[in-house]
Amino acid sequence: AVYSKLIHEDVKAKEELENYVENKISSINPRFRPHYHVAPPVGWMNDPNGFSYYKGEYHLFYQFYPYDSIWGPMHWGHVSSPDLVHWKQLPTALLPNEEQCFSGSAVQDEDMLILMYTGHIVTDKEPYYNETQYLAFSNDGINFQKYSGNPVLPAAPNGSPDFRDPKVWKHGDHWYVIIGSKTTDNRGRVLLYRSTDMRSWEFLTVLAESQGDMGYMWECPDFFELDGKFILLMSPQGIVPQGDRYKNTYQNGYIIGSFDYETFEFIQEVSFQEIDFGHDFYAAQTTEVNGKRYLISWFSMWEVPHPEDVDGWAGMMTITRELRLVDGKIIMKPIDEMLVLRENVAIVGKVEENEEVEFEQAVEINIGANFNKKVELQLEGREGGDKVWLRWDPEVGKVVVDRGSEDTRQVEWQANNSHTWRIFLDSSSLELFCGIGEVVFSSRVYPLGGWKLINLSIQDIEIEAYHLKKSFP
Ligand code: FRU
Repeated sequence: AVYSKLIHEDVKAKEELENYVENKISSINPRFRPHYHVAPPVGWMNDPNGFSYYKGEYHLFYQFYPYDSIWGPMHWGHVSSPDLVHWKQLPTALLPNEEQCFSGSAVQDEDMLILMYTGHIVTDKEPYYNETQYLAFSNDGINFQKYSGNPVLPAAPNGSPDFRDPKVWKHGDHWYVIIGSKTTDNRGRVLLYRSTDMRSWEFLTVLAESQGDMGYMWECPDFFELDGKFILLMSPQGIVPQGDRYKNTYQNGYIIGSFDYETFEFIQEVSFQEIDFGHDFYAAQTTEVNGKRYLISWFSMWEVPHPEDVDGWAGMMTITRELRLVDGKIIMKPIDEMLVLRENVAIVGKVEENEEVEFEQAVEINIGANFNKKVELQLEGREGGDKVWLRWDPEVGKVVVDRGSEDTRQVEWQANNSHTWRIFLDSSSLELFCGIGEVVFSSRVYPLGGWKLINLSIQDIEIEAYHLKKSFP
């Protein structure tokens, strides 16, 4: 009864879209298509949305524009998974009407999966857009209907037009939502609201905001408890590069603090840190299931080239990671279920100096080396395409991911207890997990015809590598 006022969506428009996607898929060039990462069937993908667990399946939605491999009027694409490793494409969940369906989140309420997203409406007056929050419902996790009382959260307290990316969760008898926004003098901030029914919302407080050095807009916030602390994860735009830090177009990172549901005060204890140090990582979102906190991120970045766009698609997601908080830092490790993707042993044993090893497109490589000495690995396409170098110099104490042409990312690494690297390669990506995930790099790399590894270290290294099964259509 509560949600009886649903808009009956244009069934025909949805059918036409599914037919379009179905027909278009056959024209996609597969050379850079991931084997085990989520990507759009056709067209453009950005942020993960609505990461949730509902009726025995994980659900992941994403910012989707089906008709071109560039950003356009936003839909919500949809995939589901029994284990966060094997994914299946589902019909597009949300189509734009007068509003584009910008980023948001999902919660289960009784039998319903409820999506809360930003309705982005283009206007003819400055600043030429307006953002408010919308709901959509489903009782099967596949077909969604928009709520006729939309928008449910019409305006930011200061009237800012930038008011987007609601992350909703339940605590006690209330729903809470945080929304990314900015101050009138362009400092990024996150707003906190509360509701008893998801349809009328009370503004509680500014959960956090930039003091001037943390960017002009905070996108895609997330807020959760992790190992006894509260984490505010967000994607600030406009942080100025400083040395090794903040070299991507926009950043993605977190603030650690404590939070009190009586006063709604978030007391910051550790200031902003990047969560991933690679070239292509943005708008990460988390969900908690059975006490585990999982994260998935857009495995790409704004305003960078996407070599796959000429193939008919652009953008993908990272593998799922599990989060822990250790010594004031988030540790991200590949979920344990990744082990089921191991198909066959590619190689186990020693790789000598300057020795080369070849792999298929989808491979997990575990590297053991003497990290008291320099380590350097060159990875490249067996048939050309991109090259990337992974380096460690104990005297500098930094791990470097170098895509050539000075396109490097680097960060200090103090190994927690295991001195190994775990590398996941797919047909156009590299994810490097140092140690138990205290330092992670996610970078898109485009080799042709599978991978070749060359050990450029002045030492032999130990390798244990597995080809990985295909787990994404
Ligand atoms: C972040 C973002 C969000 C917005 C969405 C639009 O990458 O800019 O703030 O909701 O993308 O596609």
